Amino acid sequence: MKKTLITAALPYANGGIHIGHLAGVYIPADIYARYLRLKGENVLFVCGSDEHGVPVTIRAEKEKITVQQVVDKYHHIIDQSFKDFGISFDVYSRTSKPIHYETSQDFFKKLEKNGKLSIENSKQYFDTIKNQFLADKYVAGTCPNCSNPNAYGDQCEKCGSTISPDELINPRSAFNDSPLELKETKHWYLPLDKYENWLKKWILEGHKDDWKNNVLGQCKSWIEQGLRPRAITRDLEWGVPVPAEDADGKVLYVWFDAPIGYISATKDYFLQKDKNDTTFNNNLTWESYWKDKENTRLLHFIGKDNIVFHCIIFPVMLEMYEDYILPENVPANEFLNLEGDKISTSRNWAVWLDEYVKDFPDQQDTLRYVLTANMPEQKDNDFTWKEFQTRNNSELLGTLGNFVNRALVLTEKYFENIVPEKYNLSELDTQMISDIQKVIPKISESLDKFRFREALDFYMEIARISNKYLQDSAPWTLAKNWEENKEKIATTLYLSLQIVANLKILGEPFLPSTSQKISQMLNDNGFTNWSKAGNFDIIPQNHTLGKAFLIFQKIEDKAVETQLEKLIQAKKDNELANFKPDTIKENIGFEDFMKIDLRIATITHAEKAQKSKKLLKLTLDTGVDTRTVMSGIAEYYSPEEIIGKQVTLVANLAPKNINNVESQGMILMAKDANGKLYFVSPTDVVRNGAEVR
Ligand code: MF3
Ligand code: ZN
Repeated sequence: MKKTLITAALPYANGGIHIGHLAGVYIPADIYARYLRLKGENVLFVCGSDEHGVPVTIRAEKEKITVQQVVDKYHHIIDQSFKDFGISFDVYSRTSKPIHYETSQDFFKKLEKNGKLSIENSKQYFDTIKNQFLADKYVAGTCPNCSNPNAYGDQCEKCGSTISPDELINPRSAFNDSPLELKETKHWYLPLDKYENWLKKWILEGHKDDWKNNVLGQCKSWIEQGLRPRAITRDLEWGVPVPAEDADGKVLYVWFDAPIGYISATKDYFLQKDKNDTTFNNNLTWESYWKDKENTRLLHFIGKDNIVFHCIIFPVMLEMYEDYILPENVPANEFLNLEGDKISTSRNWAVWLDEYVKDFPDQQDTLRYVLTANMPEQKDNDFTWKEFQTRNNSELLGTLGNFVNRALVLTEKYFENIVPEKYNLSELDTQMISDIQKVIPKISESLDKFRFREALDFYMEIARISNKYLQDSAPWTLAKNWEENKEKIATTLYLSLQIVANLKILGEPFLPSTSQKISQMLNDNGFTNWSKAGNFDIIPQNHTLGKAFLIFQKIEDKAVETQLEKLIQAKKDNELANFKPDTIKENIGFEDFMKIDLRIATITHAEKAQKSKKLLKLTLDTGVDTRTVMSGIAEYYSPEEIIGKQVTLVANLAPKNINNVESQGMILMAKDANGKLYFVSPTDVVRNGAEVR
């Protein structure tokens, strides 16, 4: 049996972990690692924080703390979240550790020494005030596509297009708005073009049947577009210094050093083991996992935005280095959306794990469950709080929890909490056993193929069969004729307890804390072993059970509403925080301004417009006449609260038909960043008809 090295993408230490990360990467990786361990296989599951790259420096600027403070802060938050959700890494390292600097620099040096890298000079934008080259994100300018003056050298947020710094019109520094100089700089490149054929063979032929379609599709399109040499160094201060002559002020590109982080994390694991665990001596070293090609499988769990790095760039690096194994599979997932909108750290549109554990204490398995049931394996998927509630209440609580609870409580009631004897099996009993035994191998088959949703569904199928079995056996009805039915009841509960033991074993990869709770109730000393699944004599007769308690809690409407409100609030806060006023329009002459007749008027009447959520129909006293004006303020103001208010009216705007009413002018409103509208009113009462200039 080969040993398995499982890696999960190193999260950037620029923020916490949210449900998208969990569903895309860490839950599938964890389910798989737990599954192999339960089968008794040799598994090493490694991860760590990715502490370099522009994302962490941007966060430092945003939070006005140092980059070091950012990575320290988020490394700990992330580490804690993984522990809270039972992500069972053998090691959670970080790329700021000396072992990582050493490993990534050695890697670079060997490639350089063996002539695998090329060097090119190119011109890049240089900020003369900051005295440094700017990363793409820090070059601001006008978007070539939509003329947004505040686009950046990686993308324009207004039109969403991806751009490169040299496409920006009037490039300037995002730090100080000063114009930029193009200055020559030297960088090391990975000549991916030389590996095109090798990649074609290895991926498009070698893995065409065992890699997921979404992964193969991306690889194919990258390779077919033609690969070009890729810079692996940057002119930045934050990162691993380039270990070469004449490389002052240069660091390794984050996507060069981060995947090497998997190797450093493995080394880190063995360093810690050797130090802390004197009993640890199984003759394995980090090299047993990275260099023993015949006996090791390497698996990378990642999200779809990481595919090119894990399927093309990192494998080329490993191949160039020569000693290392290559990934056997890269089961990448697509993205999870949240309430119909793309999850975004910068927009704070996310469910953060550190907040979830505060709002739903001891309900981590519910989130694991919902995220697995809805895992974006083949296509993007959507998380909604409503579905979260339904799945918890009807599936976890109503089916799984209900069955486990009834089996235990009934044993307590009829047999003083002692596992009863098994007598002759009825047809119902044998049918149930054969049904369940048919489902169990399907769970393994699905897991072997990285089909986690399907595996979970088979698992729940067992819970459904069991629930129905108990319902149909109805020991509570039989108990009315105790003497006559005693043996039947004993058998039903004996078997039900065996199912509970099976559910515990089979559920461990998906719902680890639920399995622990079941263990406690079964009083089985935490016994688990995948090979026991399907056995119906796991818990022996006469064994004393622990005390039954409820595993799952009902999730009320109120809790879900609170979460939705929280999201809406986050969206508003974010809009306010990121508000940047539009640039001022072109100048107009005084005569032009004087053409506009602005007057103070009083709202004398207001009502909701027919069939419109946005419009109010206002009657205004302008001092000169009485007007009807349709105004799009109904989302923010009720008719009652604005009657009597003085407003500013554009009095000579040509009348316009709005919603079948002739609107005679327009009232001025100030629009805040979150969209809310405010009246532009005089600070004291003014005579109606007063001119505004
Ligand atoms: N930090 C990257 C991200 O969050 C992932 C790095 S994966 C590694 O997208 F392979 F580079 F480690
Ligand atoms: Zn644009």
